[in-house]
Amino acid sequence: MTKVSMKVNGKPVSGEIEGRTLLVSFLRDTLGLTGTHVGCDTSQCGACVVHVDGKAVKSCTMFAAEAEGCEVTTIEGMANADGSLSTIQQAFQDHHGLQCGFCTPGMVMSAAALLAETPKPTEAEVRHYLEGNICRCTGYHNIVKAILAASGQDVGDIGGDAIAAE
Ligand code: FES
Ligand code: FES
Repeated sequence: MTKVSMKVNGKPVSGEIEGRTLLVSFLRDTLGLTGTHVGCDTSQCGACVVHVDGKAVKSCTMFAAEAEGCEVTTIEGMANADGSLSTIQQAFQDHHGLQCGFCTPGMVMSAAALLAETPKPTEAEVRHYLEGNICRCTGYHNIVKAILAASGQDVGDIGGDAIAAE
C-alpha cells in the first residue's frame, strides 16, 4: 500500500492505495465521487474523462499514484460555486445533449477542456475533439450543438444527423 495525495475539486485529499489502483477507482471507490463513470475500462469510451492539471485525461488509463500532487477536477467540480449548473452543463440541458446520461460526465469534461483550448471551435473541431468519447445512445448531434452553444455561437443553423467520432 502506498499513500497518495492530490487536490480534487479544489480540496486536498489523500488515501492509502495499492500501486495498481487506477485514478478512476480512487475517485469512485475511495473518494465516493461516482459521477466519473466507467464504460469500458479499456481506454475507448471516454466516460471516465477528468481533468488533471487542466488537461482532459481518461482516468481509467492513469494510475492514481501518477496524480500525486496534481489538481484533479471531476464532474462534481463543474457546477458554479452557488450550486447552479455551469454554462456547459446548462447548454447540455437546454439542447438535449444527453439521453441516458451515462457518457455525459465525460462529454462535459472533454467539452470543458476543448473550450479552454479553443473558445470558439467549429462544428468540425468539436466533432474531432469528441473522437475519444463514445455515446452509446448515439446522441452526438445534440451534444455537438450543446458545446457550440456553450461557446456562445448561434446553433440555429446546425442541422442534419451527422455522427461524431467518425
Ligand atoms: S472507462 Fe475509461 S475510456 Fe472507457
Ligand atoms: S446519452 Fe447515453 S451514452 Fe450518451
